[in-house]
Amino acid sequence: MNRSRRKQALLRLLSPAGPGADARLYRAADAVRRLNMGDAVFVRGIVEFSNCCSNRCWYCGLRADNRRVRRYTMPPGEILAACRRLEAAGHTTVVLQCGESRAFGDRNLGSLIERIKAETSLAVTVSAGNRRRDVYAYWRACGMDRYLLRFESSLPRLFARLHPDCTLAERLRCLRDLRDLGVQTGSGFMIGLPGEDRSILADNILLCRELDLDMIGIGPFIPHPDTPLGREVNAYQADREIFFRALAALRIFNPRSHIPATTAYDAVFPGAGRNLALQRGANIFMPNSTPTAYRGDYLLYPGKPGVDSDAAESARDVRRRLQHLGRPLGQGPGHSIKHRRR
Ligand code: 5AD
Repeated sequence: MNRSRRKQALLRLLSPAGPGADARLYRAADAVRRLNMGDAVFVRGIVEFSNCCSNRCWYCGLRADNRRVRRYTMPPGEILAACRRLEAAGHTTVVLQCGESRAFGDRNLGSLIERIKAETSLAVTVSAGNRRRDVYAYWRACGMDRYLLRFESSLPRLFARLHPDCTLAERLRCLRDLRDLGVQTGSGFMIGLPGEDRSILADNILLCRELDLDMIGIGPFIPHPDTPLGREVNAYQADREIFFRALAALRIFNPRSHIPATTAYDAVFPGAGRNLALQRGANIFMPNSTPTAYRGDYLLYPGKPGVDSDAAESARDVRRRLQHLGRPLGQGPGHSIKHRRR
């Protein structure tokens, strides 16, 4: 199938066609997931270790201009303690995420990765934005296994409007560098940015496929009141089911990529979004593993789950969730199944 045929097929899957058609699509995506990735759900605990950011992305609550945010950077000892807790709970990957600032320092992050690799058995994923190739190479040498960097929108004009501090070309360069360096690479996009339509959404899904990603995270755009998009609404406000149709289509077009049930699904469908995502194509769960004292200060968007509860997002909570869904916990690190190198 060539690109234009694929795009037509995608547009059909993304268009509203009634609950019966949606249910069939979800069953198909679930079957593709089971066939290619199995039933196990791999858990990646996210530690949001710094919310300092020098960028001004129009959608994000942590943008540099938002003076309402209490900025923090966790001391390395606290980050390590959070990693040890994840390991003790039986989890096998930590995701170290921060804003796009040098608050932590490239060397410091490198040393931290080295310590986590030396002192725990965790796989280390980093999500720290656009960086120079030599920085990625250095972190890779320190032991970084994976990197997450969403391209957010495949349409250069829309990307440019929302990102005053970087370009889509630059971001794609980062993704290429990471892949060249043998880092398992994750990307993805938001669904329903103002100005988006189903054609752009289909292009986003196709770009994921063309990038041959190891992991793909997508989730609904949620307006944050303290941003320039605070008064906007999601482009699919009237058709929220499209968030799941997009996820199911993403699975069908990327059968061997890891796909997480992202937090934003729970913000839009409280208490249900991530569970439904796991039944409609996703195979990864990423609990918020940031110490609770910091969670309220890492609000990319409002309505993030687990912000004011200690118990929420805990290992116990995750086990119960998977049990309820009848899905086993993934054993081992849950690396990419697309073995290119390694
Ligand atoms: N709504 C939904 N997702 C958001 N992100 C940032 N701001 C928002 C928002 N307002 C997502 C971006 C980013 C990821 C860490 O969080 O896609 O890559």
